[in-house]
Formats: sequence, C-alpha cells, structure tokens
Amino acid sequence: MAQTQATTIKAEPLTSIERYCRQEGDTASLAKQLATSFAYFLTQQPRSHLNISLEGNLGAGKTTFTRYLIQAMGHQGKVKSPTYTLCELYPLQLQQQDITVHHFDLYRMRDPLEWQEAGFAEYFDVPGLCLIEWPEKAEGTLPAFDIQIQLSAGADENERTIKISALSESGLAALKDIELK
Ligand SMILES: Nc1ncnc2c1ncn2[C@@H]1O[C@H](COP(=O)(O)OP(=O)(O)OP(=O)(O)O)[C@@H](O)[C@H]1O
Ligand SMILES: [Mg+2]
Repeated sequence: MAQTQATTIKAEPLTSIERYCRQEGDTASLAKQLATSFAYFLTQQPRSHLNISLEGNLGAGKTTFTRYLIQAMGHQGKVKSPTYTLCELYPLQLQQQDITVHHFDLYRMRDPLEWQEAGFAEYFDVPGLCLIEWPEKAEGTLPAFDIQIQLSAGADENERTIKISALSESGLAALKDIELK
C-alpha cells in the first residue's frame, strides 16, 4: 500500500511551541498541559469554540494525542478512533459549563464536502472544541483553524516531535498557559 503523506494547512502562525517527546508518556504530558490551557480559556470565555487541526502521517500519533487530551479534560470512558464514524462527540462539563469536544477523522471521506452532507457544519458553532484529523481531505472547505498541531515521527519508534501553533487570536489566548520554550 502506498504511504499517505500528510500535507500542511497553510497559514502564518502567531506563535509556535515545539516539543520533543522521547516516549508516549511525554506526549501524554504535553496533551495534559494543553487540556489545562484549553479548559482555562473555555471557562474564561464562555460559549467560545476552538477549531484545531491535527496533522501528521499515518501512525504519527494524532488519535493517541487526542485521546490523552480528551481524557485530561475530564472524559472518563474510552476515546474511540472516529475512523469509520468520521466524528465522535464528548459532552463535558468545565466548572458547571457545558462544552462538547468533537473529534473528527476525515481520512475516509470520499468527497471533500462529505462532512457538510453528514450535518457536521453546526458542530463548529458549539461551545468547546473541534479536533480534526486529516483536515486536508476536506480540501480547504472547513472553517478557519485557531490552532494547528503537527506530529512527526523520529528515528526511534516511540519518538515524536509535536509542534503546536496558534493561527488566530483565540488560538493564541488558548495557548497562553503553555510554557513557551
Ligand atoms: N511518543 C508517542 N506519541 C504518540 N504515540 C506514540 C508514541 N510512541 C508510540 N506511539 C504509538 O504510535 C501509535 C500512533 O497511532 P495513532 O492511531 O495515534 O496515529 P494517527 O496519527 O492517529 O494515525 P492515523 O492517520 O492512521 O489516524 C500508537 O500505537 C501509539 O501507542
Ligand atoms: Mg488517527
């Protein structure tokens, strides 16, 4: 099977944080830090919404990172890969505020607009997060992203480099609590 290569969303980042993760536990720690920062943003700015792209080749760790993030935001059950359903929803409470995390995987879309036909457009107005694996399959038809997360593998099978970029003022505010290095 030909390896599918991920492409990059083109937008000039306002800021970027790049972290080397030697093992999966480091990825989990970074996801946890991000969850804390997002939770702060979403509770300080009630009814706000962040659009987040997850980029990287097959097996880069997009679902793994998202799983740690959603669990760190308070979800207690499993986080299934949305490979076949295209989208999984996680209703959560942050300090008595209802938010929803939508986790998309658009890899299997046969048409760039299939996400709209499936009725997903309204999810982009719901307070909370939309986290989107394989956004490039929608060929630029998605609403603008606030944050871009790029994962890439290293020489060792457990090594990853994770780059988190703010693409909007909201994205910048939502990353405020992450230590910039
Ligand atoms: N440092 C690490 N960070 C994240 N995942 C890691 C790390 N080291 C090893 N892994 C493993 O790599 C695999 C990543 O798979 P995952 O399904 O998350 O990738 P993906 O990017 O979502 O792939 P796909 O494009 O097929 O959806 C998992 O089995 C995970 O346990
Ligand atoms: Mg995945």
